[in-house]
Amino acid sequence: MDKISHFLTLKDLTQAQFLGLIELAKQVKTTPEKFNQALVGKSLVTLYEKPSLRTRVSFDIGIAKLGGHSVYLDQNNGALGKRESVADFAKNISCWADGIVARTFSHKTVEDLAEFGSVPVINSLSDMYHPCQALADFLALAEQFDDLSLIKLVYIGDGNNVTHSLMIAAALAGVEMVVICPEGHFPDGKVVQDTQALAKSHGGSLLLSTELSAAKGADAVYTDTWISMGDAINYDEIKEKFLPYQVNRQLMTSLGDGYFMHCQPAHIGQEVTQDVFDGQNSLVLTQAENRMHAQNAVMISLLS
Ligand code: CP
Ligand code: NVA
Repeated sequence: MDKISHFLTLKDLTQAQFLGLIELAKQVKTTPEKFNQALVGKSLVTLYEKPSLRTRVSFDIGIAKLGGHSVYLDQNNGALGKRESVADFAKNISCWADGIVARTFSHKTVEDLAEFGSVPVINSLSDMYHPCQALADFLALAEQFDDLSLIKLVYIGDGNNVTHSLMIAAALAGVEMVVICPEGHFPDGKVVQDTQALAKSHGGSLLLSTELSAAKGADAVYTDTWISMGDAINYDEIKEKFLPYQVNRQLMTSLGDGYFMHCQPAHIGQEVTQDVFDGQNSLVLTQAENRMHAQNAVMISLLS
């Protein structure tokens, strides 16, 4: 597998690199003792312009499990680029740290950190992508299905950063993917076009629809919040449009009772009901656990 230099979007990976990371994440999960020296002597800055539970904790603990050290820069530093330019921020951090993990509002900020810094940058969520999440999600799927190229993955809800990364991951794995959104809330058109071409070249497909019937036979149904961090939308404005797309027991049964997936945080009673979220087919806690193993695989690939 060719070495990767940053982890900003899954679009930058070849199929071999993506599947290689999933394989490595499986090894990190099953034999952690083999990797507990992987980051000895290395320090990473993890910085946040937005709130986090899973990302913050899974990176901090994950870095410690690899023998490394993390420095947390919280939201109190304000948006990057205000006190000093993103370029200066990146150049300074690169004087001390061996890597940067960044959760930002604008995807351009993670790109700038990578361009102006001299150490690997990992995108831990931007307005456009959430590649660490999709890698963890595909590790969860790979644990359930021996051959990912045979599954049908359905995303229902708002076309957002999580959707984009999931679509690209599905395309790299040759998966049949369907994205179902209310009119006006589809994923970014350019990402859709690029992903459709990528899916085709790997034997997968990406279909967009407003119809829930397109989800029939889903092996896994994925949803996410209807309003993402940084979206200037009021819940009351979109509620009526989105409620028909709620993932509830009746919908799951009508689709064939596949697995349920959610990146969390979940908004129970909005995009998903409690019974589905806590149901026996729910993979949500496996996805959360896998964040750490997937990210550790990324850090091992980038830094050791
Ligand atoms: N899924 C996820 O990224 O969760 P946090 O926002 O809590 O980090
Ligand atoms: N789409 C969500 C994901 C949170 C993990 C957001 O960006 O807020």
